[in-house]
Amino acid sequence: MFFTIRPYERKIFELIRDTAQELEYPVYAVGGYVRDRLLGRDSKDLDIVCVGNGIKLAQQLATKLRPIPRLVVYKRFGTAMIRHNGLEIEFVGARKESYRSDSRKPSVEEGTLEDDQNRRDFTINALAVSLNIENYGEIIDPFGGLYHLETKTIKTPLDPGRTFSDDPLRMLRAIRFANQLDFIIEPNTYEALSVFKNRMDIISMERITGEMMKIMATPKPSIGFKLLFDTGILNTFFPELVRLQGVEVRDGIGHKDNFYHTLEVLDNVCAVSDNIWLRWAALLHDIAKPPTKRFNQKSGWTFHGHEALGGIMVPKIFKRLKLPLDHKMKYVQKLVRLHLRPISLTKENITDSAIRRLLFDAGEDLEDLMTLCKADITSKNYEKKQRYIRNFELVHQKLEELEEKDRIRNWQPPITGEIIMNTFKIPPGRAVGVLKTAIREAILDGVIPNNYDEAFAFLVKKAAEMGYEV
Ligand code: CTP
Repeated sequence: MFFTIRPYERKIFELIRDTAQELEYPVYAVGGYVRDRLLGRDSKDLDIVCVGNGIKLAQQLATKLRPIPRLVVYKRFGTAMIRHNGLEIEFVGARKESYRSDSRKPSVEEGTLEDDQNRRDFTINALAVSLNIENYGEIIDPFGGLYHLETKTIKTPLDPGRTFSDDPLRMLRAIRFANQLDFIIEPNTYEALSVFKNRMDIISMERITGEMMKIMATPKPSIGFKLLFDTGILNTFFPELVRLQGVEVRDGIGHKDNFYHTLEVLDNVCAVSDNIWLRWAALLHDIAKPPTKRFNQKSGWTFHGHEALGGIMVPKIFKRLKLPLDHKMKYVQKLVRLHLRPISLTKENITDSAIRRLLFDAGEDLEDLMTLCKADITSKNYEKKQRYIRNFELVHQKLEELEEKDRIRNWQPPITGEIIMNTFKIPPGRAVGVLKTAIREAILDGVIPNNYDEAFAFLVKKAAEMGYEV
């Protein structure tokens, strides 16, 4: 079968072909680019394999391109990269590669195209397109990759134990591709995932998280997480999530399975938002349910404080997973901490002060919090679900009304620490903090209105109680 070369590819493919011919190297396009193009997906990363020196091929090609591109050489890996016309083209010499079982560092030898295809992860990633004059555009498919693209199957080219031992991250890649492309994993390959799962321990957290991020970016990450769970791989790097699974029954009372609930919430969020960190908040929103789970005769199962403990767990999990520890982590932490607030408002009287507090605490992330909160309504009971949704809408409406009136979101109290220090001629210290908090609380509680004069009068009174005079 032949690859349909698109007009925008023709020029660069032909230049690669001609340059390789000058060097007498057989040359091929391989890997993800070929796979994605055959699937009708766009790809910007083109991998070129030659039977020869990949760096030399790239160097010679670069001289012919206009504008002359910058060549990035990775000597250690024997590869070179060129950016041209929106494509990132990587050049490498065909190799035989085998990884030692105790290390990720491969020992590399030069090889043929066949050797190079043998060492790849899946049949659909081992397809090569010849760029040689004699069979230009022919697809070289030694393992039935084309058939597997058609039947939507992930299968390793060699015995799966061998392919996974060479690089155990491929186990995660199998699941990620299944999720991302909506493929199924061939039974033999699938079975090997459970058998070899413990080999994941030689893989760096950064690589694992890289794959997890790709799973999180799919329209339905639950598919990937279920596969990770069922094969036992999830437990090798994310035991906190695994602990969410299971239902305990006491005195005939059970609770929902928090693992599957979490995945449902995650999918619900994904259906309405591409915000990856909001998705992470969904994944982690109930993470502290297992350690806070209690049972008592009167109220059955409770998870009191799981939102607060969850907020404490977020930085630890981010640190271990090598996720960013910056404002993104703080955002996830905040949403986890606040995820019950809008719903709990429906239970008590929805007072203006409770709503004002929520507006203040959520600030600019209020809409995202409400998205998470709505996604969290997963009850199987239709009546109950409708009731929750009605309550939720009511809270949403009240939040909007009050924000319109008070502008509490992104709000700073009218009296700053500086004003307090200047008014009472006091240095920075605890007293300033106490007074600032008292003013903020009084405004949020509706004791005084949100304006400078009333806040200043309140400050003077409060300070006098503490022994400070103007
Ligand atoms: N590859 C492999 N084993 C790995 C990683 C990559 O065999 N652990 C091979 C596959 O043939 C793959 C190619 O290298 O197609 C390029 O890898 P990469 O760019 O990481 O992945 P893609 O397949 O291009 O897919 P994506 O861009 O979605 O990650």
